[in-house]
Amino acid sequence: MRIISSAAAMQKFALQWKSAGVKIGFVPTMGYLHTGHLSLVRTARKRVGPKGKVVVSIYVNPTQFAPTEDLSKYPRDLKRDLKLCREAGVDIVFTPGDAEMYPGKAEGNYSTYVVEENLGRVMEGASRPTHFRGVTTVVAKLFNIVLPDVSVFGQKDFQQAAIIQRMTRDLNFPVKIIIAPTLRERDGLAMSSRNKYLMGDLRRQATVLWCALQIAKWLVEKSKSVSAADLKADLKKLIEIEPDAKLDYVEFFNPETLLPMAQVKRGTHMALAVFVGKTRLIDNAKL
Ligand code: PAF
Repeated sequence: MRIISSAAAMQKFALQWKSAGVKIGFVPTMGYLHTGHLSLVRTARKRVGPKGKVVVSIYVNPTQFAPTEDLSKYPRDLKRDLKLCREAGVDIVFTPGDAEMYPGKAEGNYSTYVVEENLGRVMEGASRPTHFRGVTTVVAKLFNIVLPDVSVFGQKDFQQAAIIQRMTRDLNFPVKIIIAPTLRERDGLAMSSRNKYLMGDLRRQATVLWCALQIAKWLVEKSKSVSAADLKADLKKLIEIEPDAKLDYVEFFNPETLLPMAQVKRGTHMALAVFVGKTRLIDNAKL
């Protein structure tokens, strides 16, 4: 396994592979890898086959964090990440620094961003207005550096995956986007690097996201169609029974357009974001 931090060197490998007809599978990450990431790596490997190459990027992308968010505290453990990648059969781990990804930014002369203008306005985009601009910019740059044939994203970040798919289509990136299912802990909590912050009873309280999804599913199965406004109010009450849980949003929407639905039925998608203590967790499911 090679570890590369220069964008030019990474691109050179990718170009050599491409000209030799070797398929490239890519998993972009912010590191602090867990079983969920490793399942994305396995999906990438399956897609490109034993002769293909799998690249994982590890980069905590500053442009997707607002000044008030947890950039400096974001968990990092490169040594452990590299060990996990080696064991998972990754060919290259791309670990760029900020100067490599945003040349000139420290001097105030980095000036190109990629903005998706529709799907990114709601939910995460409404709560974190600059977040998706950072995500689309870094993913577009990584696609240009790694030149993947396929790239795998987790369904846990449902809106992110939808926006990446839209960007890929709109900007003609020759990349197939694969959305892999969310992996969960035994009690239903979606795997996430941020779960590390959940100390003591907060870890138990965090299962409230999974409970909210299950209750919504059950209600929709029982009543065929439920008012979104009523369901939102009930779920807020349920979630905030936990002493440290505060609902940021819960939305019911069409999974293609992400447009909100006034009536919730089977097949409607639900997404929610909840602060558990200071940690903001997200989850989603088809009802
Ligand atoms: O999902 C993530 O970890 C990040 O948003 C991504 C796609 C690696 C971009 O920084």
